[in-house]
Parts: sequence; structure tokens; C-alpha cells
Amino acid sequence: MSARKITVVGAGNVGATAAQRIAEKELAREVVMIDIAEGIPQGKGLDQWESAPIEGFDSRVIGANDYDAAAGSDIFVVTAGIARKPGMSRDDLLKTNAGIVKSVSEEIARVAPDSIVIMVSNPLDVMAWQAMQSTGFPRERVIGMAGVLDTARYRSFIAMELDVSVEDIQALVLGGHGDTMVPLLSYTTISGIPLTQLCSQERIDAMIERTRKGGAEIVGYLKTGSAYYAPSAGAVQMVEAIVKDKRRILPCAAYLTGEYGQDGIFLGVPCKIGEGGLKEIIEVELNESERAALQSSADAVRSTIAALG
Ligand code: NAI
Ligand code: 2OP
Repeated sequence: MSARKITVVGAGNVGATAAQRIAEKELAREVVMIDIAEGIPQGKGLDQWESAPIEGFDSRVIGANDYDAAAGSDIFVVTAGIARKPGMSRDDLLKTNAGIVKSVSEEIARVAPDSIVIMVSNPLDVMAWQAMQSTGFPRERVIGMAGVLDTARYRSFIAMELDVSVEDIQALVLGGHGDTMVPLLSYTTISGIPLTQLCSQERIDAMIERTRKGGAEIVGYLKTGSAYYAPSAGAVQMVEAIVKDKRRILPCAAYLTGEYGQDGIFLGVPCKIGEGGLKEIIEVELNESERAALQSSADAVRSTIAALG
């Protein structure tokens, strides 16, 4: 199963790596990268296509600066944005990226009105909200990627701590993509065994804290950019779930209309992802402290939307 065309907007670190992963998994007949930087998407697209005979994939990868090449795409992965520069406040960054996402979303709605948007640009929950406003798409077709990444970080730390396969770790990290994210300890199991039976509370707390600061840890090493291998893998897992109609239960940022007591914002919650995008939001039981943590996360997303003005 594969899509006819998938477009990645933003051919930077996350976007180009996502395009490569989509092509190597042959999730689409055609993979398009779009960026405002002249020559970059074309050069990266050609370079990736020239790897096809070696890697053995037939997804044709191309790059472009305008959206004609993206016309009729089934799915868009949006990674366009800028990083914070010296002298720039968080609010300046927020407004700049919201402006970029707005213009990208309008182009998406123009050239592919039936497409599905997977948002990656930060601040994630607010950019997903912006994309929904600017495309006018229903919530089924605008989904944010963050929970898959945050949960993968958490799972990778647990695998290292317990010296077990990452494949045997089930976990859920909900909430906004930031310091207020909510790792759910009660849903963290190793092949069904609660993590609390295999690990001390002190080590669990340390892993949760490391997960919350997972993005900053990578920035601390890279210095000139942020993570992209795991983020691109997260976005492509969502693409694959849609293209193959896998109906996977993944933590994704979805537009809430009353679920978890929230309305009118995007927040990370367990979602069923398959053909058509978001098929269902699953409401799991939360204990009192998890509910309170999710509420503060929602409040943080709301105040960022308010800062957009
Ligand atoms: P990057 O700087 O390597 O790439 C961004 C690309 O966007 C650049 O090539 C730039 O030319 C392009 N761009 C800027 N304005 C554009 C426009 N109007 N149209 C098309 N392209 C445009 O950044 P990177 O590392 O790829 O990150 C991309 C975004 O993803 C950032 O906002 C980052 O914070 C976010 N991110 C989100 C994660 C998540 O979990 N949701 C994880 C990792 C990154
Ligand atoms: C991350 O979590 C920067 O959002 C990005 O790595």
C-alpha cells in the first residue's frame, strides 16, 4: 500500500530526513520537498533520488520552490519554520513561525484541498491549531506530531535502564510538546509488566525528567540545531499509519472538542490513526495528578495561542 504523492514542506533537517524515510519505505509513488531556499529542495531531492538504485526504492523524489509540484498530494508533512535567533524573543519566534505556517497552509488548501496535514513545526500544538485555522480542514485532517517523539524518547531511556528491547516497552506521553508534557506512569509497561515493578521510583522520576528535557538535551549537543532523526521517524510513523490504514493508537496532537475536558485547542492525546487521518480520540482514565498535569499543559498551550494575538 502506498500513496500517490506525499509532500514535505521545509527541506531542512527534519523535512529532508522525513522525505528520505518516506522514499526508502516506498510510502508514496512520488515524494516532493518544498522549501523557500532556492536550490536546496531540488538538490536534496535529486541526491535522494540518486540513492534509489543503491537502496532499491522506486519512490521518485523531487524538490521545488513552488506548490505546483505538490498539487494533489495525499499527505503534507509540514516542517517549515525558523529557529530562534539571538535577540529574538519566544513571542517573535511564535509570530514568525505562525506566519510561515499560515502561508504554507493556504498553499496546501489551494493545491490539495482533500489532503491530510501532519504538523511538525514548533511550537507544535499552536502551529497545528494555526494550520487548522488557515486550511479550514476538519480535525480529522490536521494532526500534530510530538507525542510519538516524546514517547519514543521515554521508551528509549527505559530500554537502556532495564537493558531490554525497545520493542517490548509500551508507554504514553500526553499533553503539549514542551516542559509540561505528561508521561503516564500508569500506562507504562514492559510486555505488560508495570514499570513500577521493575524500576525504583527514583530512577523512573529521572527518566521522566530526561524525557521532558529530551529536546533540549539534543540541542545542547548539536548547538546549531535541534533533533531530527527521531522527529522525522515520528512523523513518518504517522504517515505510514495513514497510508497503510493501520489504525494505530499513537499519541498525537489532536484538536479537542470536549475530550479530556478541553475545547478548542490541540493537545497530545491517544489517537487512532488510519485512512483519512484521525479516526478517533481515545479517552483513557487518568488519576488526579495526571489530570492536573494535563490541565496545566492545556493552560500553557492556551496562553501561547493568546500570545499570538
Ligand atoms: P531547519 O532549519 O533545518 O529547517 C527548516 C526549513 O524550513 C528550512 O530549510 C527553511 O528554509 C524552511 N522554511 C522556512 N520558511 C519556509 C516557508 N515559508 N516555506 C517553506 N519552507 C520554509 O529546521 P528543522 O530542524 O528541520 O526543524 C523544523 C521545525 O520542526 C522547527 O520548527 C522545529 O522546532 C520543529 N521540530 C518539531 C519537533 C516536534 O516534535 N514537533 C521535533 C523537531 C523539530
Ligand atoms: C524536540 O523535541 C525541538 O521539538 C524539538 O527535539
